[in-house]
Amino acid sequence: MEPKLSLLFAKDEIAAAVIRLAAEINRDYRDKNPLLIAVLKGSFVFLADLVRQLDFPLEIEFIRLSSYGKGTESLGAVKMAPGAPSHIKGRHLLVIEDIIDTGLTAAFLLDYLGRKKPASLKLCSLTDKADRRRVLVNIDYRGLTVPDKFIVGYGIDWDEKYRNLPDIYALGQ
Ligand code: IMP
Ligand code: MG
Repeated sequence: MEPKLSLLFAKDEIAAAVIRLAAEINRDYRDKNPLLIAVLKGSFVFLADLVRQLDFPLEIEFIRLSSYGKGTESLGAVKMAPGAPSHIKGRHLLVIEDIIDTGLTAAFLLDYLGRKKPASLKLCSLTDKADRRRVLVNIDYRGLTVPDKFIVGYGIDWDEKYRNLPDIYALGQ
């Protein structure tokens, strides 16, 4: 049976959040030629909308991590998939995430990237499920705060489904 979806953020609210984040990033990264590191797969829609609001030179890399199996609970262990970007020493790095939940994934990635001696390292996340945090993670550019519910849409999936929805929904009543 298909689970019920309840609307959390309509596409206009998401667009407003993206514009606000882009304004902050435009202010901070002009002339820095940053390398945006987008975490696949969930951030792909956010990244596409965000970068079209950024009006300075930048580069984009994708990184693949895995912390989730099927279902809605983090397995805790985070792994880096092969093909991680290598030329990041001395670059201004901005990690682009769809959601920070327990924080384990972002903490792992920031630690991993920090060891490669970037010029700077910051985190931008479209959503923040702050109530679920298990490790401290500083979100430099934070979009929407979401309640402790499993969310889908706008690139974010449940078991690979619902990434194509233009709005963000909570799974269940
Ligand atoms: P964390 O390591 O617990 O912070 O989880 C990070 C990753 O888990 C996110 O990048 C998502 O891929 C996934 N995730 C966490 N919460 C949700 C959710 O509500 N919906 C879909 N994916 C989620
Ligand atoms: Mg993710």
